[in-house]
Amino acid sequence: MVLVARKPSRRSLLRQRVALGVWRYAEGLPFRREVRPVSLQEGGTPLVVSSHLRKELGMHELYIKNEGQNPTGSFKDRGMTVAVTRATQRGARTLICASTGNTSASLAAYAARGSLEAVVIVPTGKVASGKLVQATVHGARILRVKGNFDEALELVMGVVRKNPALYLMNSINPYRIEGQKTLAYEVFEQLGGRVPDYVVLPVGNAGNISAIWKGFLELKSWGISERLPKMVGVQAAGAAPIVEAYEKKRDYVEPWRDAKTMASAIRIGKPVSWRKALRAIRDSGGLSMTVTDSEIIQARDELASKEGLFVEAASATPIAALEHLRGEFKPHSTIVCVTTGNGLKDQESVKVDLEKAPELSGGQDLLDALRSNASG
Ligand code: F0G
Repeated sequence: MVLVARKPSRRSLLRQRVALGVWRYAEGLPFRREVRPVSLQEGGTPLVVSSHLRKELGMHELYIKNEGQNPTGSFKDRGMTVAVTRATQRGARTLICASTGNTSASLAAYAARGSLEAVVIVPTGKVASGKLVQATVHGARILRVKGNFDEALELVMGVVRKNPALYLMNSINPYRIEGQKTLAYEVFEQLGGRVPDYVVLPVGNAGNISAIWKGFLELKSWGISERLPKMVGVQAAGAAPIVEAYEKKRDYVEPWRDAKTMASAIRIGKPVSWRKALRAIRDSGGLSMTVTDSEIIQARDELASKEGLFVEAASATPIAALEHLRGEFKPHSTIVCVTTGNGLKDQESVKVDLEKAPELSGGQDLLDALRSNASG
């Protein structure tokens, strides 16, 4: 792909360019007339080359698409900008979602941006506090459901069905998927016009894997790309209904009543977009697999300590999966792991032992501490 055919004049250096991000791809979004996006400049997230993990795992090309760099710290912003823009077009006033945390943080911010009201329903006691802090500062109404995410979503969907004044913002809203599919366009551009061999990502309610697959399918159907990636959906071992259906070669997903994992964002037993997710995995020739909670924590810590990227637990699942996928990849495979959310939201899962940190009362203490660390 040749972007600059001749040396540009200095004047063109400052010309307005459409930056990488969701609205760069406005032609690919389902708006018939001109729209004024409700935007916080989402998307355009870094595709970081992995250096340490790539070498350790003996991989050729390994990238991390770091979605935690979005305005509210997760991939949800891609879908939210499009869905909230659509909601304003329709004259909606009250936007509502059930959430394991990130959707509520994102909805709260975009509703604020669009001067709309946000109502977020969360499962009691099960959401990372950073995400609730976000929903709070952005002015959302927070309501709790005694139960899990699946029960919260069922409750919200039931109420929305009977109350058209409420606009549903979970990923069954097709405008969310439309926004999230732009990750595929972006990765294609960031790889210099190439489609990766594998896209590895966490799966919870299963909207994102469906969205990204849609993006790649479109690039091919429009004649922009020639290939498709294999989609690898990773779930926590204690919340893996999609993996179960994949492994048992079922064409339906049996809900898990009691989903359990410390990766609270993907603690989901009844994924609403299961049908599309199974299709993405099967049609792409990909696969679906589980990782344990201890593998997730280890992967998160390695990504932070070796690559400098701090992601939340759910987002570390694709990294944890890499070890198991070594046999699957070819020597020259290009692999993109999508890390979906920022680690700063999910601080409860990191132990900080400040008691063990020596307290200094002068420069000599510092030198002593450094010396004892070097010898110890
Ligand atoms: N990663 C993170 C950080 C998430 O917050 C979620 C979903 C997923 C992965 C899974 O994506 O549902 O499209 O398969 N979080 C939702 C929420 C359910 O309410 O914030 P999915």
